Amino acid sequence: MGVMSGEYVQVSGRIIYHLLHPRPAVLVISMGSDCRPGGMVAAWTVSLSHSPPLVGVAIAPQRNTYRLVKESGQFTLNIFGMDFLDKIHALGSISGRERDKFAEVGLELEPSRTLRVPRARDALGVLECELEKIVDVGGDHDLFVGRVVDAYAKKEFFKDVYDPARAKIILHLGKRIYTTLAEVMIVKEHDAR
Ligand SMILES: Cc1cc2nc3c(=O)[nH]c(=O)nc-3n(C[C@H](O)[C@H](O)[C@H](O)COP(=O)(O)O)c2cc1C
Repeated sequence: MGVMSGEYVQVSGRIIYHLLHPRPAVLVISMGSDCRPGGMVAAWTVSLSHSPPLVGVAIAPQRNTYRLVKESGQFTLNIFGMDFLDKIHALGSISGRERDKFAEVGLELEPSRTLRVPRARDALGVLECELEKIVDVGGDHDLFVGRVVDAYAKKEFFKDVYDPARAKIILHLGKRIYTTLAEVMIVKEHDAR
């Protein structure tokens, strides 16, 4: 039995990723070749490179957004505060395949600074990305690698890092459970060697 005998609980299947959360619930926005915008929520995002600035987002092929990003070659990543939790969760629960879910949910889009595809109004942070490649990782999501061509954040909420006192960004714990930033710890600098 070893370590499973009491101190640890087995974590399996679709719960495994919860061990790597909380992670920001990011709104991915793109646009099809018909110029209709769409998007979805993704918690599976990752920074991949400083130079060039590359980020990744894991998107399942059945998502409508998968097709939109493939068609346009562009997407924006939009990070929100907790006051948008209900809207963000809804955008991650319904598909925009046959409906304008932004209108339904009441989330406003606006033109991006650099890209053709839109961004969300009221986002605390925005990354505008050109699709570099789609990586088949051998699983049920593909890794969309984006080159960040523009990135900006609301001054009031971000000073090199999100200000934990103000920026109550939406963090996903798993299922319908979310959390946000609370405590801050600043560790002492290590001697440079
Ligand atoms: C908090 C949260 C995180 C999610 N993360 C991902 C993700 O990382 N990748 C993914 O493919 N789907 C993810 N989803 C599911 C999609 O957002 C959801 O299926 C969405 O309705 C797809 O919309 P679309 O078909 O209009 O693209 C997540 C949903 C929620 C609520």
